[in-house]
Amino acid sequence: MFKFTAKALACALSLGIAGMAQAADPIVIKFSHVVAEHTPKGQGALFFKKLVEERLPGQVKVEVYPNSSLFGDGKEMEALLLGDVQLIAPSLAKFEQYTKQVQIFDLPFLFDDLKAVDRFQQSPEGQKLLTSMEDKNITGLGYWHNGMKQLSANKALREPKDARGLKFRVQASAVLEEQFKAVRANPRKMSFAEVYQGLQTGVVNGAENPWSNIYSQKMYEVQPYITESNHGLLDYMLITNTQFWDGLPADVRSELEQILVETTAEVNKLANELNESDKQRIIDAKTSEIIQLTPEQRGMWRDAMKPVWKMFEDDIGADLIKAAEASNKQ
Ligand code: LMR
Repeated sequence: MFKFTAKALACALSLGIAGMAQAADPIVIKFSHVVAEHTPKGQGALFFKKLVEERLPGQVKVEVYPNSSLFGDGKEMEALLLGDVQLIAPSLAKFEQYTKQVQIFDLPFLFDDLKAVDRFQQSPEGQKLLTSMEDKNITGLGYWHNGMKQLSANKALREPKDARGLKFRVQASAVLEEQFKAVRANPRKMSFAEVYQGLQTGVVNGAENPWSNIYSQKMYEVQPYITESNHGLLDYMLITNTQFWDGLPADVRSELEQILVETTAEVNKLANELNESDKQRIIDAKTSEIIQLTPEQRGMWRDAMKPVWKMFEDDIGADLIKAAEASNKQ
């Protein structure tokens, strides 16, 4: 008994010492992502690092690895689960192995604009998705915007028939594959880091991205036509390893949560601005023709792609789709 108490005391003392900010090694949070720094996600990661260093000096250190420099697509989720990184923010298209419901965000023409997306993400249904993967050791900490996707290609896309037979790069998402099959195009899954080269060499002929990714990856240099289609969404879920997060000292975790609330607000404000300014930079570069769709043409794309919803309704849930649709009308 005495032996146990002495051991417990020694252990408590050592934990106490470890808990002292100056003496202990800082907790390291590695934040890995696949985009450039001058993008909503890239800026968000840096903003988070800055606030953590101001408010938790010596206690938490944040290391940011942009541009797939530490882990690329396909590897970052595995790295999170293995504890090799502590924060990642994959696009919502990259979760289908972990939850089918998050596929909702890929449904073409579901959201009218980012305001509707916000309303759905903040609704009880949207918030519930953040905790839907905890049994897989993944905790969602929030949604970060990038923006609405535009279609780009080596030929002008005005009507769905223009896409017929073209090879489009898609993220690892069955919904996005079906979306392109619906217009009789050929989807090709490809990691983000390979897209520029894929487009340049003709492995693929087209892609879908928000303006910020088209600009920061220089895709506009190898895509002579960009159609402002706003046909789908590219947003992120900021996620952590549940075990890591739950194991943080409570005071540190609650400060990090507060910092994330502020970071998320900053990212979501910045996302609109960055997409607008990157669109203008692409226009100014004059390497691509920017195509505006008439309401009739946009309707044709919607009619061609919308049947995809039905294909995924059982996996996603009809009620969830209804809730997302309703966010357009408020
Ligand atoms: C993509 O693969 O196109 C995107 O998910 C990249 C990103 O993170 O914005």
